[in-house]
Amino acid sequence: MSEPEQKSPRKTDTVVGTLVVALVVSLVCSSFVASAAVLLKPRQVANAILDMRRNILEVAGLLDPESDVEALFDGIEPRVVDLETGAYVEDADPEAFDPAEAAKDPERSVEVPAEIDVARVGRRANHALVYEVRRDGEVSKIILPVSGYGLWSTMYGFLALEADGNTVADITFYSHGETPGLGDFIGKPAWRGLWRGKRAFDESGKVELQVVKGRVSADDPLADYHVDGVSGATLTGNGVTNMMEYWLGDHGYGPYLRNIQRGEGT
Ligand SMILES: Cc1cc2nc3c(=O)[nH]c(=O)nc-3n(C[C@H](O)[C@H](O)[C@H](O)COP(=O)(O)O)c2cc1C
Repeated sequence: MSEPEQKSPRKTDTVVGTLVVALVVSLVCSSFVASAAVLLKPRQVANAILDMRRNILEVAGLLDPESDVEALFDGIEPRVVDLETGAYVEDADPEAFDPAEAAKDPERSVEVPAEIDVARVGRRANHALVYEVRRDGEVSKIILPVSGYGLWSTMYGFLALEADGNTVADITFYSHGETPGLGDFIGKPAWRGLWRGKRAFDESGKVELQVVKGRVSADDPLADYHVDGVSGATLTGNGVTNMMEYWLGDHGYGPYLRNIQRGEGT
């Protein structure tokens, strides 16, 4: 009797065949992922802009869940400000200006001198994007982007000032990595409420707005400028104080806010 004929292995059962199949599958999958990333990019950018506008409307006190964000944002005018002079840069297009990109460009940014970099900003753009809230043609509030280091992370937010350039209307933090249950008090509505009506500058123009350790005491002579801290999370509160000191100071929005206070801002 003759031996049964041995079948030779199919091509795909070989090592080379397996590698070819794996390569083809990974090429197909990676091209899917790459195309999805490219195709979804414009939508991601649009969503990021929408989210930022929602935050700005919220701190402006204009957010209404029933209304369209874009329609509400018509009441807000973005303006580009030269931080050194505090003047508006009239020929700059606010829609095209990206402060984060500008801060990375040595030609359009400056290093924050170490002795005043209490908020650990590092570099800041020469220009800033601020937002004017208009009611009946008049500026009713000014929204200032602020950032600074807390205990674990850079905290990003918006400070809303009344048209006097001094009284706090609201504050919001839209991004931070502080600990849930401790440093995340900065995002809590009850704590935000403590800021309303506080003042940023004293009579001499010094920045006095700060988060104190514990509660603001009844006999605190600077109670108008002080906000309660949270026990057990003083270091995040200190980060917010440092952020106010830098961004409201001479290297931040100080020159701009002085123009506003003199009625030269708009
Ligand atoms: C795991 C861990 C996470 C913490 N997260 C925060 C925080 O997000 N913010 C903060 O201020 N303190 C945080 N703390 C506490 C700080 O280390 C520090 O003790 C506190 O800020 C001091 O505040 P106090 O003087 O009011 O007690 C954390 C501590 C631990 C152990």
